[in-house]
Amino acid sequence: MCGIVGYIGDKSVVDILIDGLHQLEYRGYDSAGIAVKCEDKINIYKAEGKLENLSCVLTTHKSEYQKATMGIGHIRWATHGAPTVVNAHPHTCNCGNLVIVHNGIIENFKELRAQLELKGAKFKTQTDTEVVAHLIAYKYADTKDLTKAVQLATKEIEGAYALCIMHNEEKDKMVATKRNAPLLVGIGEGEFYVASDVPAIIKHTKKAMYLNDNEIVTLTKEKMVLINSNGEELQQKIETLPWEPVALSKMGYKHFMLKEIHEQPDVIRNILVGKIHTSEEPIILNEVKLTKEKLKELNRIQIIACGTSLHAAMIGKYIIENFCSIAVDVEPSSEYIYRKNVTDSHTLVIGVSQSGETADTLTAIKQAKAKGSHILIITNRPDSAMAREADSLVPVSAGIEVSVAATKSYVAQLVSFYLLALYMAEIKESLDESLIKSLKSDLTQIPQKIEQILSHKERILECAKKYSNTKDFIYVARGINYPTALEGALKLKEISYINATGYPAGELKHGPIAMLDESMPVLSILMKGSVYEKLLSNSEEAKARNARMIALTNSKDEKLKDLFEFILEVPDVQELLSPIIAIVPLQLIAYYIAEYLGKDVDQPRNLAKSVTVE
Ligand code: G6P
Repeated sequence: MCGIVGYIGDKSVVDILIDGLHQLEYRGYDSAGIAVKCEDKINIYKAEGKLENLSCVLTTHKSEYQKATMGIGHIRWATHGAPTVVNAHPHTCNCGNLVIVHNGIIENFKELRAQLELKGAKFKTQTDTEVVAHLIAYKYADTKDLTKAVQLATKEIEGAYALCIMHNEEKDKMVATKRNAPLLVGIGEGEFYVASDVPAIIKHTKKAMYLNDNEIVTLTKEKMVLINSNGEELQQKIETLPWEPVALSKMGYKHFMLKEIHEQPDVIRNILVGKIHTSEEPIILNEVKLTKEKLKELNRIQIIACGTSLHAAMIGKYIIENFCSIAVDVEPSSEYIYRKNVTDSHTLVIGVSQSGETADTLTAIKQAKAKGSHILIITNRPDSAMAREADSLVPVSAGIEVSVAATKSYVAQLVSFYLLALYMAEIKESLDESLIKSLKSDLTQIPQKIEQILSHKERILECAKKYSNTKDFIYVARGINYPTALEGALKLKEISYINATGYPAGELKHGPIAMLDESMPVLSILMKGSVYEKLLSNSEEAKARNARMIALTNSKDEKLKDLFEFILEVPDVQELLSPIIAIVPLQLIAYYIAEYLGKDVDQPRNLAKSVTVE
C-alpha cells in the first residue's frame, strides 16, 4: 500500500509534498517521511504515526529546506517491519546519496538482501524497500546514470512497486517507475509532479501521464523522458484528468464518516438520475456493453471483491439470482486468485471496488480477463486501474469517500446492483412485470426513507451508548440481509475494535449459540418478508440463552417488546430493497459507539482505505 509523491520545479517543495501526502492518507498513516534536495546534500525527515507528526518535525528544520525545490515523500501502511521511524521511507543506500520511496511489496527481497550484504550493503531497516535502494546504488556505481541504474535494478526485482528515486550526484533529476502499483506524473509549466493517485496533484495540474507497468520516466525541470524496460524511448500518452480539485471538508460534521453517512440519500438520487425515468419505462444502463443477445444467453456470473465491497457483492448475488435466474458465485478476490478457476468466455465477471485499485481484486480481474470473460467493473473511481481493465464500466458516483470505513460507497454499490439486476431482468423477461415496476418505484423512494432515519438519530445514539461497553457483538439475519449483518459487524469492528460478528441466524444453533450469555448483545435484522418468522424463532432461541436482544425492524408487532430489550424501528420497505435501509442504522451504531469510546473514527488503527498490496 502506501502513497508516494515527488516534485521537481521552482516552487518550495516541502509544502507540495506534505499536501500531496495529506491527500494520500487514505492509503496508510503508520508513518511518513520526505527527502528534499538541499544545497549539496539530500535531507531526510521522518516521523512515526500520523502525518501531523512529520509536520511537527519539519517546523524545527525550516531553515534547512526553505529553498529546496525538488523532493520525494511517502506515507506508509507497514507491510515489512514495524511502523517505526527507522522503517519509515524514504530509504537510502550506504552513503546516503540515493533516496527512494516505494509503494508495493518486493517479493524476492530476502534473496536480494543476502546478495547485497555479500557486496557490503549495510541494512538499517526491516523493510523490503531498502534492498531496492542498495540495488540501484550499486547499479549507479557502475553506470553513473540514475535512469540506467533503475532500469537494470528493476530487472532483478520481483513483486509490485511504484518507485520514485533521487540521487545526490544527479543534481536536478528524478526517476520514477512502476509495476502492478499505480503511479502517474502531473505535468506543469517547468515542473513535474509524481503521485500514487490523482488527489495529490489535481490542485496543481490536470495534465498527466499514467505510467504503464515497467515504464521508467526521467524528470528534469525542463522535460520528461519515458522509456521501456529495454531503454527504448516511448511516446508519451498525456491526458487531461477528468477531475476538479475538491476541497475535502467535513461540512460541519465531526467526522468524515458521519458526513458520508448523511450524503447517502443524495448519492442514491444522483445514481438514479437518467437510469429510472418512470416505473413504466425500461431501465437505461448504457454502461453495460454486453449485447442483449449475450445477456439473454448468460447462465453464469462470478463476482469478486474485498471487504465492504464483498458484502455489496453478496447482496448483488441474491438479487441477480432472484431477478434474473442466473447462477452467481461470489468470492473474496484474495481467494479467487490462488485456486484453479473455471472462469471462461461464457462467464460474466463482475469486479466491485470502491477504489478500483485493491490489488487482490485487480489481479483477479486480470486473471478472468485473460480467460476471455467479459469484465464488468462497479467502482467509485472511473479513472482507476480496474476501470482501465473493464469491458463494461458502471461508475457508482458516490463522490470521494474519505473515511476509511466505507459507507456511502457501499450504498452506492447496492443501488448499482439493483439497477444492473433490474436491467438484466427486463432484457431476459425473467421477473414479473408488476414486481419490476414496484421495485423501480420503491427504489426512488429510498432516499426519503434514509432521510427519515437520519433525522431521528437520538434512538440510535441511545442504543449505541447502552451497548458500548460490550467486548463482543453479534449481528444476525437471514436471506437478503445476511450480508447486512456481516457489513454491520464489519463497521463496528473496523472503527471500535469490538469483536463483532455477523451470522446467518439459522447457523447460531450450530456453534455460535455456545457464546451467548447475559453479557452478549445480539442484534436481529428483522425485516418483514419471507424469513421474518424464521428469524423471530432464531431470536427466541438466543433470548432463551439470556442474550441481550436488540431488533432492527420495520415491523410494528407489539409482541416484539417481550422478546427484545431494545427495538430500533426503520421505515417500511419491501423486503427485496431492505438492505439499503437496514444498513444505515448499523453504520450509525458503529459510528456512535466508536465516537463514544474515543476511537479515531476516520482513520482506525492498522487499516487503510485502499489496499494496493496482495
Ligand atoms: C480496505 C478498506 C475497506 C474496503 C476494502 C476493499 O480494506 O479498509 O473499507 O472495503 O479495502 O476496498 P475496495 O476499494 O476494493 O472497495
